[in-house]
Amino acid sequence: MIGAPVFIDRIGKAYGSQTAVGAVTLDISAGEFLSILGPSGSGKTTLLTMIAGFESPSAGRIIIGGRDVTAVSPDRRNIGMVFQRYALFPHLTVAENIGFPLRMRGIRKDLRAERVSRALDLVQLPDYAKRYPHELSGGQQQRVAVARAMVFEPPVLLMDEPLGALDKKLRESMQIEIKQLQRRLGATVIYVTHDQEEALTMSDRIAVMAKGQLVQLGSPADLYCNPESAFVADFIGKMNFLTGEFLGKTAGRHTIRLGDDVVIDTPGAAHNFEGSAKIGDRVRLALRPERLGLAARGAGGQNALPGRIETSVFAGSFDLHLVRTDFGSGEIIQVQIPADGKREPFAMGALVDVVAERDGLRLFTVEEG
Ligand SMILES: Nc1ncnc2c1ncn2[C@@H]1O[C@H](COP(=O)(O)OP(=O)(O)OP(=O)(O)O)[C@@H](O)[C@H]1O
Ligand SMILES: [Mg+2]
Repeated sequence: MIGAPVFIDRIGKAYGSQTAVGAVTLDISAGEFLSILGPSGSGKTTLLTMIAGFESPSAGRIIIGGRDVTAVSPDRRNIGMVFQRYALFPHLTVAENIGFPLRMRGIRKDLRAERVSRALDLVQLPDYAKRYPHELSGGQQQRVAVARAMVFEPPVLLMDEPLGALDKKLRESMQIEIKQLQRRLGATVIYVTHDQEEALTMSDRIAVMAKGQLVQLGSPADLYCNPESAFVADFIGKMNFLTGEFLGKTAGRHTIRLGDDVVIDTPGAAHNFEGSAKIGDRVRLALRPERLGLAARGAGGQNALPGRIETSVFAGSFDLHLVRTDFGSGEIIQVQIPADGKREPFAMGALVDVVAERDGLRLFTVEEG
């Protein structure tokens, strides 16, 4: 089976006066892995259930494989779906649950048994075929739901937080399994998650939603390196924020004053910054913890942010230093430095300069409200 393109055309859903999803447009290629990422209540499930056909949109169209399916019932859309609340049939065994979509499609019994058994291996539950859903843990039920959605190799697969109930290790191995299977089948996957790490590792593109709106769409690297809003910058990866005053711009660099006397400059302004920020405005400066360095006080050169070490923690592959700034209101900056096992740790209270690489900084206007 080969994936089908999915075109979501200005789709919207209102419940009474409340807009759950507002005019979202997404053009998803055949075989693409697209994640929908957003905080709780941002409209992810509502959007997915409209694509599946379990909710009818208040506005817009859904085109799958070139066919307008907006008015087509869910069972005629040929979509595999894993729901957020993994609804297995309680009166069917695990094997019967997984085999159900195959039975509906008239697949022969022996072929069915073979594919069910392969699907059970895939989700690492080979010995659970005869159990009933109530005899499984939440994570096991979730894995059976994943197997059932994929077993008939649908051209489009919708998954709503399919790994939410699993522990970290199992979740990571299932992420790889799902990704490999998707590549092998060429299926188009629309994957809902509120876990940004999961979205970053699995996706070709990520659609970030907030309050029912699509706020940014791009590749993982794109969202990580070029967030268009402080919201996306904050939501994807770790980020420090400092508030400062915009002093002006020369030769493509924006100059910012932090506190009374720390002045730094950066070329990295969000795309809408130029048009909206005026000299004297309060602005937000975003700094990635892993793009920062530490030097002894006075040795940080230009773009040094003076502070003192509040705590340092060993975090396996890196050391995490919390530095309290000596300017402004004394915010904490997180600095993440790869652990090489040799570095002398900074003493608590040590006076340091946090050194920001210019391209690791990003400027945003202060959002209203
Ligand atoms: N049947 C419904 N009736 C009224 N409001 C609803 C209904 N379903 C969802 N909503 C509202 O629509 C908004 C979006 O809900 P949705 O379930 O799509 O969010 P979500 O992004 O999936 O959140 P979560 O991460 O918590 O699953 C929420 O404010 C929710 O309360
Ligand atoms: Mg949801």
